[in-house]
Amino acid sequence: MESKEDILILAIESSCDETAASVVKNGREVLSNIISSQIELHTLYGGVVPEIASRKHIEKINQVIGEALQEAGVTLDEIAAVAVTYGPGLVGALLVGVSVAKAISFATEKPLVGVHHIEGHISANFIEHKELEPPFICLVVSGGHTHLVIVKDYGVYEILGYTRDDAAGEAFDKVARAIGLGYPGGPKIDRLSREGNPDAIQFPRAKVDGSGYDFSFSGLKSAVLNYLNSCEMKGITVNRADVAASFQKAVVDVLVEHSLNAVKEYGFDKFAIAGGVASNTSLRAAFETACSGQNIEFYYPSPVFCTDNAAMIGVAGYYEYIKGTRSGYDLNAIPNLKLGER
Ligand code: KG4
Ligand code: ZN
Repeated sequence: MESKEDILILAIESSCDETAASVVKNGREVLSNIISSQIELHTLYGGVVPEIASRKHIEKINQVIGEALQEAGVTLDEIAAVAVTYGPGLVGALLVGVSVAKAISFATEKPLVGVHHIEGHISANFIEHKELEPPFICLVVSGGHTHLVIVKDYGVYEILGYTRDDAAGEAFDKVARAIGLGYPGGPKIDRLSREGNPDAIQFPRAKVDGSGYDFSFSGLKSAVLNYLNSCEMKGITVNRADVAASFQKAVVDVLVEHSLNAVKEYGFDKFAIAGGVASNTSLRAAFETACSGQNIEFYYPSPVFCTDNAAMIGVAGYYEYIKGTRSGYDLNAIPNLKLGER
């Protein structure tokens, strides 16, 4: 039962190919989390088609919001504020969520709070770890982002490193396509890797000169493609499970090494992961081992809170709301919004 003191946030997320809405209570309790995924539709094209994504969001968004309110058992009257992802992401997709959030905010006279998508991913960790509070270090690994971040306080970030080219999830998706697994590649590589030998092929672990915490995955992707080509030219049958497992290990090794170096250098004892790739079994296991060996508390969200969802936007929106952050009706979709900027 909700009391008058409870702060309920209605959150909306439409930055890529998931139309999602959620009601979050007091920043940590998810009352509903509705996700309408377009994955099947985009699978036909081997990746997300922006124009199709926007149109599907328009078709689904009202229904998804209605379901989120219904499942939470609350009406718009009881909501304190409307939080919405306004970037980064696909501009047409973002605009759908932003427009609907503005309309609800205007009609109900409830405040509007624009939320950064990455801040949402990081905040997903607060849902199931009630004791987790900043400061800590977080690795955000998704289809569009690879960021190593110090979470100094709620909504206060320092970026230590990011990818210079492909995001980790993008590398998974591209390699999956090259070995014929289809979109989205991450979960498929994760599954196939369990049947392969991660030490079968030595793929490169890329370092970025002069910046210890930056990442680069395009060289690794090219190395996999070269390997596949050379096998084909020599008439060697490729063991796809070995390629998947060896590629995955190369990604995991680099992510773990950079993250643990940062946690140690900055003297933290808490470390979290977030984003779609954070649901990778091998990545979780590697961090579990590395952190427990060094007395670092390791946090990760359940898979449903790793990939895109609106509950994480509701959590981030709550902390922005209680800090006094308010967006005007001129809030726009910002496809390349930087973390920490408003
Ligand atoms: O966070 P997310 O849903 O969307 C973005 O904000 O980008 O992440 C989607 C990405 C995709 O690239 C997908 O292949 C990857 O996360 N992913 C995975 C796994 N599950 C999803 N990558 C590796 N292993 C997984 N189990
Ligand atoms: Zn995301």
